[in-house]
Amino acid sequence: MHQEDNEKLILKKYTMSMLEKILPHKSEVGEIIKNNLDHTLFSWSKQKGIHPLAIEHAKGVYLYDYDGKRYLDFSSGLVNVNIGHGNQRITDAVIKQMQQVSYVMPSCVTKVRGELGKKLAEICPGDLNKAFFTLSGADSIENAIKLARLYTGRHKILSRYKSYHGSSNAAMTASGDPRKLPVDSQQATNFVHFDLPYLYRWEYGEENLLKESIAQLERIIAFEGPGNIAAILLEGESGSSGCMKYPKGYLKKVREICSHHGILLIMDEVMSGFGRTGKWFGFQNHDIIPDMIAMAKGLTSGYLPFGCLMVSDKIASKFDDAMLPIGLTYSAHPVCCAAALENLQIYVDDNLINNAVAMGNYLDERIEILKQMHPSIGDWRNTGLLGCLELVKSRVTKEPMAPFNAKPDEMVVMNKVAAKLNELGMSTFIRWSFIFIAPPLCITKEQIDEGLAIISAAISIADEYTILPL
Ligand SMILES: Cc1ncc(COP(=O)(O)O)c(C=O)c1O
Repeated sequence: MHQEDNEKLILKKYTMSMLEKILPHKSEVGEIIKNNLDHTLFSWSKQKGIHPLAIEHAKGVYLYDYDGKRYLDFSSGLVNVNIGHGNQRITDAVIKQMQQVSYVMPSCVTKVRGELGKKLAEICPGDLNKAFFTLSGADSIENAIKLARLYTGRHKILSRYKSYHGSSNAAMTASGDPRKLPVDSQQATNFVHFDLPYLYRWEYGEENLLKESIAQLERIIAFEGPGNIAAILLEGESGSSGCMKYPKGYLKKVREICSHHGILLIMDEVMSGFGRTGKWFGFQNHDIIPDMIAMAKGLTSGYLPFGCLMVSDKIASKFDDAMLPIGLTYSAHPVCCAAALENLQIYVDDNLINNAVAMGNYLDERIEILKQMHPSIGDWRNTGLLGCLELVKSRVTKEPMAPFNAKPDEMVVMNKVAAKLNELGMSTFIRWSFIFIAPPLCITKEQIDEGLAIISAAISIADEYTILPL
């Protein structure tokens, strides 16, 4: 045997024995998976026949399974791990806070709670100066809806069909997302939805789209009675519905309409917030100031469950001399506050928001090239690092590779693409005909290239199902 081969063999044996020490044996991995499948329920999924990734640890933009296989996390978990995985600064901040005090009643004050409130007031524009801390996106939305009704004395909430605002009762009803259809009979009352088409599937140009969408919204407001409408609720930038951008000037018009009728504007920044779109908040790309901001996900980058509803001084002052009738046992949880505070500093220290802009632009360039190679790419939409590819069967007819709310048998091609992505070492969020590209904001050009090479290989499968344009 050549010396080189011998060295390789020794190295392999050494690596294997190291791995055996840190990784559990096959039977243990089997047990880990079995415990999960036998005794826990999986969201938004049938429970049988699923093959979830078994993740042992994570660092930066990578996840590692129990066999040591690496996956590039191209959707930052559920678009929440904005700073990237395994940042020890958060761990240290959490430990330090736990060593001092882990829990106090929400009626108590702590250093971290006050500092976090102050920091968020600095980040938020206008007079959005008061924070009510929650535990999740849905929590933030529930409380926004409640406060909007209390503040205005009105009851209706208007929101978009192509939206997701959370899975608790009012948040799910406010969502237009079809995930609510199986529990249709349990929907909350006084929610009205409107449609907002998106440019890729609108034939008459962006100016016309703006005009028609605003006219439709104004008609709905007139039909529903402006004096009955408490709030319009919109995502800062569209997320899980397919990153469908607002027509230019749309949010500004909505802001004007709200102010005119005394309707509150609530921006849901749960997914689009905290640098994801190249600004602290998605709505800042549209030059407006809302009355409330719902936050979660990127507030702690998913290291701990946490959320926040930021409200204007005007709304908060209503409760100066009246009881604020909202509350949670874990509101302003000190450990979550400590994680959030450190996390906000990491965005600044690591220049993550500027990187989201730069990497968003880089993606635009690279995906232009991918489009020339892959007839299945119909559209690419993104703002910073909140983006998705929309796959189609034909660029001429724009028939999607899988339709809206696709049934399992309509997902055959997309499921093959998803399986290939996993096989090649990528974890990302796939929905209907959309492949999400929303990596941690710390991603580099080289890592984007690595991810796009994997996507390119996987969507070659979809290309085979396209009808090439003449
Ligand atoms: C825009 C938006 N709002 C609200 C939520 C709900 O957040 P959570 O799952 O933390 O309740 C989500 C979750 O994906 C979201 O994308």
